[in-house]
Amino acid sequence: MKKKVVSMMLCAAMTAAVLAGCGSSTQTATDDAASAGTEEAADAAEDAAAEEETADAAEAETEETAGGTLVMGTNAEFPPYEFYEGQEVVGIDAEMAAAVAEKLGMELKIEDMAFDSLIPALSSGKIDIVAAGMTVTEDRLEFVNFSDTYATGIQAIIVPEGSEIASADDLAGKTIGVQQGTTGDIFATDIEGATIERYAKGMEAVQSLSQGKIDAVIIDNEPANVFVSEVEGLQILDEAFAVEDYAVAVAKDNEELLDQVNAALAELKEDGTLQAIVDKYITAE
Ligand code: ARG
Repeated sequence: MKKKVVSMMLCAAMTAAVLAGCGSSTQTATDDAASAGTEEAADAAEDAAAEEETADAAEAETEETAGGTLVMGTNAEFPPYEFYEGQEVVGIDAEMAAAVAEKLGMELKIEDMAFDSLIPALSSGKIDIVAAGMTVTEDRLEFVNFSDTYATGIQAIIVPEGSEIASADDLAGKTIGVQQGTTGDIFATDIEGATIERYAKGMEAVQSLSQGKIDAVIIDNEPANVFVSEVEGLQILDEAFAVEDYAVAVAKDNEELLDQVNAALAELKEDGTLQAIVDKYITAE
């Protein structure tokens, strides 16, 4: 039962992003939104369109250099895994993917888009891999393959300082903010009597929380740490919601790339490169 709800949600999120039946689209969210002029109708697509200013140019370039370029899709609203430093997307995923691409003798190109556009973009061939702090879930495995895991994520609960919410149990009946299409969204949706506010970006949920518009935010622990350090008056509960594995997603029909990514990841773990990248972005307390 629970599984059914979750896969329906994933389908709904994907449908919203591509304006097509679940798993049946061969176009990207950005392209659909742009060509159909339906930005208002699809928040996720709109977000992707807005953030991907040079989508057309980028796509043309991708086609020309196919073979030599590894195109990584991400949603660069997720520090320390992916975020903007000036015009550039940096972070653990960006550097890990660059290291993987180097092992493969390829050049990495990063496409930033709405989180719930990533799996459709992978299925349509717009991007080659997803590196986005993406959690391995049963439902996503119906649409994509995942590499071996390279990091652990914890669904954390953020509340205002002094909140009456002290544990996950206290979330029943509350208004909870999440980033649309994430596992935090899926967990929140399962909480009894809760009202879910879905945002394009995790930081928007956190800002809403600080303005008193919602009662809590469920989001991955590392971005939670970054956001809470940037916005006053918030705290992360000690009790976490779930522990998850992050992995690189690859299209179902691209077993060869999956094997190559796994081989590269194994080497990067083995020679300490992965740990060095993590240490650069996450300072242990
Ligand atoms: N780990 C969560 C998930 O897979 C959230 C990932 C959000 N990532 C991002 N780049 N915004 O659903």
